[in-house]
Amino acid sequence: MSFNQFDFPESPLQVISHPLLKQKNITLTVKRDDLHHPHIAGNKWRKLKYNLIKMQQERKAAFLTFSGPFSNHLYAVSMACKLFSLEGNVIIRGPHLDENNPTIRMARACGVKLHTVDRATYRLRYQESYLNELQQQFAHCHLIPEGGSNQFAMLGLKELAQSLPKSDYIMCATGSGGTLAGLINASSCKTSIIGIAVLKQAEYLNSDILRLAPKAANQSNWQLMCDFHDGGYGKFSAELWQFCQTMRKNYNLPLEPIYSGKLFYALWHLLEQDFFAPGSHITAIHTGGLQGLDGLRYRKLISH
Ligand SMILES: Cc1ncc(COP(=O)(O)O)c(C=O)c1O
Repeated sequence: MSFNQFDFPESPLQVISHPLLKQKNITLTVKRDDLHHPHIAGNKWRKLKYNLIKMQQERKAAFLTFSGPFSNHLYAVSMACKLFSLEGNVIIRGPHLDENNPTIRMARACGVKLHTVDRATYRLRYQESYLNELQQQFAHCHLIPEGGSNQFAMLGLKELAQSLPKSDYIMCATGSGGTLAGLINASSCKTSIIGIAVLKQAEYLNSDILRLAPKAANQSNWQLMCDFHDGGYGKFSAELWQFCQTMRKNYNLPLEPIYSGKLFYALWHLLEQDFFAPGSHITAIHTGGLQGLDGLRYRKLISH
């Protein structure tokens, strides 16, 4: 593994011109982190980078992580495995695997070892006794949680926060809360930091965010918005998908409906509701995830 391979030029910033933004006198810049790494998109690279560096420091060339069968995390760790010649072990939610699923095909092509478990076993993935058992079985592996949100991820997200323009609001999609926590950790307390939860009943994530960003307990400049999940994790309305397509076609902003689409759809609702003070500058993080479109097409949840 060679670590100069880990430094990439910062991802571009894209300023969006849209009549609603003009009408409300809001500047919107998108941090196109989906373009940051050539193969490992968005927040996945930010989270993996310092996990890989930790592995190098500990002279480990193998990792163990957890994933669902279509996830961006699985795609990212598979790519990392291939690019950096690592042994990748993934405990994957089964009980059966569809070998034609495009994300699984990618993982197989990258040589990742997929260890299928049933749903009940998969639910144990945060339990200490289960993790201890796995750590014994995979003693040569660096452990990365599902989604990659751990203390090493915070270091990569700090780099993201430091690369952003001065903003009144920073917004991101929230799944595990890691990205939001990293942004809270490393941003000015004069900036409002808003996470848009992509899953239903996501209030429980607040405690996970506090665990990763203890300073958040003493700050009131952040919030997790839980009303924009559009039906729950992996679910989305025809309107939301239509919005994603319009943003790609008319504003050159590619979105998928599971993460980035929900973020921007929420942002547009908030604009309409005059949530943002006129004259404000918003920076929205495009956290990647566009590979997920293949999985949605494969499952015929979208048609093109
Ligand atoms: C594309 C994309 N955006 C956003 C998120 C949410 O990030 P976090 O889990 O750090 O909240 C994820 C993953 O979970 C993701 O894959």
